[in-house]
Amino acid sequence: MTVPTPQTASAAVQLPVALIVAATHASLGIGRAGTLPWRLPTDMALFRLVTSAPGGSTASSQPAVVMGRKSWESIPKKFRPLRNRVNVVLSRTVTDFGPGTHTFSSLSQALSALSPTPPPASTIPPVSSIYIIGGAEIYTEAFKHPATSRVFLTTVYADEEALQCDTFLPDFRSTGEWEQKPTADLRRLLNDLECHEAVQLIPEDGDRVKENGLEYAFSLWEKRR
Ligand SMILES: NC(=O)c1ccc[n+]([C@@H]2O[C@H](COP(=O)([O-])OP(=O)(O)OC[C@H]3O[C@@H](n4cnc5c(N)ncnc54)[C@H](OP(=O)(O)O)[C@@H]3O)[C@@H](O)[C@H]2O)c1
Repeated sequence: MTVPTPQTASAAVQLPVALIVAATHASLGIGRAGTLPWRLPTDMALFRLVTSAPGGSTASSQPAVVMGRKSWESIPKKFRPLRNRVNVVLSRTVTDFGPGTHTFSSLSQALSALSPTPPPASTIPPVSSIYIIGGAEIYTEAFKHPATSRVFLTTVYADEEALQCDTFLPDFRSTGEWEQKPTADLRRLLNDLECHEAVQLIPEDGDRVKENGLEYAFSLWEKRR
C-alpha cells in the first residue's frame, strides 16, 4: 500500500502516459456488466506485450499499469497482479488491494509517484513507462491529464446493438486534440519500445484481424502539440 505525501501529490509527472484500450468503432463501447464484451486473443496478446515491454528500461525497472478498482476486480484472481508490471489501483474507498499492488486515491497522485528513480523511502519500484489500462472512469480522467500523450486503440467493428456495451470511452477522436498516426508509425514505435513480438501481430497495411466472429484493427493516436 502507498500513502502519498503532499510532496508526491504535487510533483510533476516524470514519464509520458499512454492509454491502451479496445473500443467499438461507432460508440466507443468498452465494457458490459463489469467485464469485456468480447474475447479477442490477439488483442490480449498485444496488450500483454506492449504493457510489459522493457522500452529501454534498466534491469530493475518495469512498466506500470494504472487501473480503476472495478477493472482490477474484473481481472481473474489467478492473473493478478499482472506479471512483470507495477500494478497501480485507484480507489477512493479501498486502501490496499494486496501484495504486488500500489493504491492511490487520485490519478494525479499516482502518476506523480511513478518514477524511473523513486526516492529511497518509496515503496514503489522504479518505473520505465506508464500505461492507463481502464476502465471508463480512469480513461476519462486520463484523457484530461496533461501527461497523457498517446493512445493505443484497438477498434472493434461489430454490431453495436448486439454487443450491448454499457461502458464507453469519451469520443476523444472528435475533439481535434488527437491525431491518428499511420500504421507504419505504430510499428516503428513498438520497435523503439523493444516490443518486437508485438509488431508481428500488427498487419502492415492496417488490415483488420478477424477473431471469434469480430473484426478489429490496431491504431496509434497522439496528442497534437
Ligand atoms: N475494452 C477495454 O479495453 C477495457 C479496459 C479496461 C476495462 N474495461 C471495462 O470497463 C469496465 C469498468 O470501467 P468503470 O468505468 O466501470 O470502472 P473503473 O474505471 O475500472 O473503476 C472505477 C473505480 O475506480 C475508482 N476511481 C475512479 N476514478 C478515480 C479517481 N480519480 N481517483 C481514485 N479512484 C478512482 C473508484 O473506486 P472506488 O469505488 O473503490 O472508490 C471507481 O469506482 C468493465 O466493464 C471493464 O471490463 C474495458
